[in-house]
Amino acid sequence: MNQDELKQAVAQAALDYIAPKLKSDSIIGVGTGSTANFFIDLLADRRTDFEGAVASSDATAERLKGHGIPVYELNSASEIEFYVDGADETNARLELIKGGGAALTREKIVAAVAETFICIADESKMVDVLGRFPLPLEVIPMARSYVGREIVKLGGDPVYREGVTTDNGNIIIDVHNMDLSRPILVEEKINQIVGVVTNGLFARRPADVLLLGTDKGVDTIHRAGI
Ligand code: 5RP
Repeated sequence: MNQDELKQAVAQAALDYIAPKLKSDSIIGVGTGSTANFFIDLLADRRTDFEGAVASSDATAERLKGHGIPVYELNSASEIEFYVDGADETNARLELIKGGGAALTREKIVAAVAETFICIADESKMVDVLGRFPLPLEVIPMARSYVGREIVKLGGDPVYREGVTTDNGNIIIDVHNMDLSRPILVEEKINQIVGVVTNGLFARRPADVLLLGTDKGVDTIHRAGI
C-alpha cells in the first residue's frame, strides 16, 4: 500500500472506532493535515449521526463546512468525546510531535479538552525516540530571536519557517537536533520560554489510542493504563 492508502485505511479505522459511540448531540474534535482530511471526507457520509465538529484549524473548518458538517466554536461545546488527528511522529508511549501543518496550538487545545484522543498515522510516523522530525514551536513574532537563543541554550538548532503565519497570527520555529529522549521534561522546559505560545510535543497529554497503518492492516494501540 502506498502512503495515501495507509492514511485512508487509518481514517476509516477511526470512523469505525467512533461510529458506534456517536450520539445525535455529539461534537467531534477534528485535526489538521492530509490524514485528518481523509477522515473528514469519510465523516461526511455520517453527518446525520452527530451534531457537528470543532476544528483545529481554519483549513479544517472550511473542509468540514464544505461537506455540510456544522462547525462549532470550542467555547460553545460542553464536551468533546473524541478528537481525531494525525501526527508527524509518535513513539510507543503515544507521545507525539505535531505541528508540521502549523496548527499545533489549536490542536493541543482541542486534545486537552477531548475525552479520548485518537491519533491516526501511517507506520512511517512511528519512531523509537522522537526528534527525527524537527520540533515545531508557535512563537509570538517579536520573540523570534529571543526564543531562538533560548533554544540554542537547550541544545537545539532553531530554524525560522519562512513565509508561514499561523491561524493565530504567529510564526513557526522548527527545532532540529534536540534531544527529545525525555519528551515530558523538554515539553515543560520549552513551555517556560517567554514568547513560545505552544510547542509541538504532545507528551504531557499524549494520544489515548493510536491507529497505525501498516502493510498488514491497521494496528490499534492503546496507551498504557487506558
Ligand atoms: C498539523 C499536524 C498534522 O497532524 C501533522 O503535520 C501530520 O500531517 P499529515 O497527516 O499531513 O502527515 O500536526 O499541524
